[in-house]
Amino acid sequence: MDPTVSGFLSRAVQQEADIARLKADIARLQNSKMQDGSDEEDQVSPELQKLRAANDKLKFRITHLKRNIEAEKGQSDDCMPDINEVLKDVFGDAIRAAFPDLADPVIAVTTSQQQRFGDYQCNSAMGLAQQLKALGQKVAPREIAQNIISHVGENDIIDKLDIAGPGFINIHLKKTFVCPILNKILTRGVLPPSVGEKKKVIIDMSSPNIAKEMHVGHLRSTIIGESISRLLEFVGHNILKLNHLGDWGTQFGMLIAHLEDQFPNYREESPPLQDLQTFYKASKVRFDNEEEFKKRAYALVVRLQAHDPDIIKAWKLICEISYREFNKIYDKLDIHNLIPRGESFYQDLMGDVVKELDGKGFLEFDEGRKIMFVPDTTIPMTIVKSDGGYTYDTSDMAAIRQRLHDEKGDWILYVIDAGQGVHMQCVFSGAKKAGWYDPTKNRVEHIGFGVVLGEDKKKFKTRSGDTVKLKDLLDEGLKRALDKLKEKGRHEVLSPEELEAAQQSVAYGCIKYADLCHNRVNDYVFSFDRMLDDKGNTAVYLLYAYTRIKSIARLAKLDQEAITKAAASVAVSLDHEKEWKLAKCIIKFPSIITKILDDLYMHTLCEYLYELSTTFTEFYDVCYCVEKDKQTGEVVKVNMDRILLCEATAAVMSKGFSILGLKEVSKM
Ligand code: ARG
Repeated sequence: MDPTVSGFLSRAVQQEADIARLKADIARLQNSKMQDGSDEEDQVSPELQKLRAANDKLKFRITHLKRNIEAEKGQSDDCMPDINEVLKDVFGDAIRAAFPDLADPVIAVTTSQQQRFGDYQCNSAMGLAQQLKALGQKVAPREIAQNIISHVGENDIIDKLDIAGPGFINIHLKKTFVCPILNKILTRGVLPPSVGEKKKVIIDMSSPNIAKEMHVGHLRSTIIGESISRLLEFVGHNILKLNHLGDWGTQFGMLIAHLEDQFPNYREESPPLQDLQTFYKASKVRFDNEEEFKKRAYALVVRLQAHDPDIIKAWKLICEISYREFNKIYDKLDIHNLIPRGESFYQDLMGDVVKELDGKGFLEFDEGRKIMFVPDTTIPMTIVKSDGGYTYDTSDMAAIRQRLHDEKGDWILYVIDAGQGVHMQCVFSGAKKAGWYDPTKNRVEHIGFGVVLGEDKKKFKTRSGDTVKLKDLLDEGLKRALDKLKEKGRHEVLSPEELEAAQQSVAYGCIKYADLCHNRVNDYVFSFDRMLDDKGNTAVYLLYAYTRIKSIARLAKLDQEAITKAAASVAVSLDHEKEWKLAKCIIKFPSIITKILDDLYMHTLCEYLYELSTTFTEFYDVCYCVEKDKQTGEVVKVNMDRILLCEATAAVMSKGFSILGLKEVSKM
């Protein structure tokens, strides 16, 4: 048996024995309790409680191990092996066997950056030398590497191991290990790596403000949030996307006052209000200049907070108009199931939050305000203003509590610009202090991102210096995409429908990709010219690469059915060096996903897809897939196993696109 599997099995057997022993202990303890006449549940001794907890933990671990064994064997039907993890297990076992004295040995496995260093590398030897030195044993890293290798038994995964430099172990994979994974991709589709327990994940994303412009910062939050949620959904987590709209606050006073004046019968008839931004600006001018108007606006805020039905109606009207506008953008960007749950939702919950924080003695008086200091920051949160009103801090405290306690979120992610980092840290710290979550159990994280810059490296603005309207930006994208397609003469070969599909795919795809392909924490320069370039790491390049790959099977006159059938019967040879290289790149996909699950940096996926398509090009340049007669142009030979490689590449690309929110087209 493969040593990984046997390693797992022997550990599982060991655990099973531990459980049996614990069960016997529990039974014995219960027995003696019974004899005491105190068998009640709530009277269990601390010793028994401890044993039960240990038992639960072991049960959890054994299911986890069993799942791993399945995944290792590649027999688990609904996932694909993460090669990094598989190798970590193989080397983990070998290292523990070679150095039984080390309590926590270094286990470092990575993908090799260069072919000549193998496919993967185990770089533990240097670290282990340090660990051994601390125990008073002086061993050279190369010797350690040799020792590790001698403990890696015969297995189905590794073809060959060699030592390089001071003690790096180069790992070469077996073709017989890689081939079945390719076949699985072709017959079962691109499956995620196994991630263990499914989590309930709440993603706070997009979150523009009612009656105000949805700006490029909100666009980034929307694009990044959507992509992360698609990734988490792909691996099987349960996602709730929340749009934390700025839909409450004093600005509604002036908006409603202006509404009353402009559309006095708004209660009976919906006002034909189209341009809410202009309306907002007009009401702001009045608010700043007309004393009487200002007073009325304040009085309306009070009535809104008291839930006066007329005023609530006006508020709803304004929110709906705004939301209709936002939805147009979400539709274009193919964003669905984004639940509008703005700050207003938490209004009724804030009183309780204040009471709880006050009760716990966390609130201090400061010039009429109630503030709360939290660990790790010197700036306190303002929980209650001097006029008794609540703040952005209060609503986020109420929101996090609701998400943890009512929504039972295991993970709560906030996709918000990096500028709000301090605010988020205060909220997280405050929630921890209040005992609302345990960071070892809940993953609560601010997914920050930098600002969008114009080509002049200054804040992104229109030529006239105004903020860029998202709608205009998307429209310009459409126009530029069409120009680009026409420049390439595509309008002459594509039908009008195909051309339109390609135009949308390129326009929205390039905007999303330009955002996602950069490390999100950095600022990035928005440039249509750069994002529409068909060379380099761009959406246009990838979309073209994809259509080219898909056209190969078409050229060979093979439909999906024929390909699936071939995948079940044709063994891919991987004899050519470039075939082998491409195959290894394809099966790296699950490791890429695992890595992103850890840091939620989507640019890793973009870089991988770019690497995959350049590796494909290398292969395609030298490996004929479909051979044609030079004179007649007729297809004379179809290399089925290479077509299968093409299709597996396309399948992985397509999965990557769907995670990034790109829409591939089969013709472009
Ligand atoms: N509406 C806010 C803004 O435009 C973003 C809200 C983000 N989410 C949150 N829970 N604070 O800046």
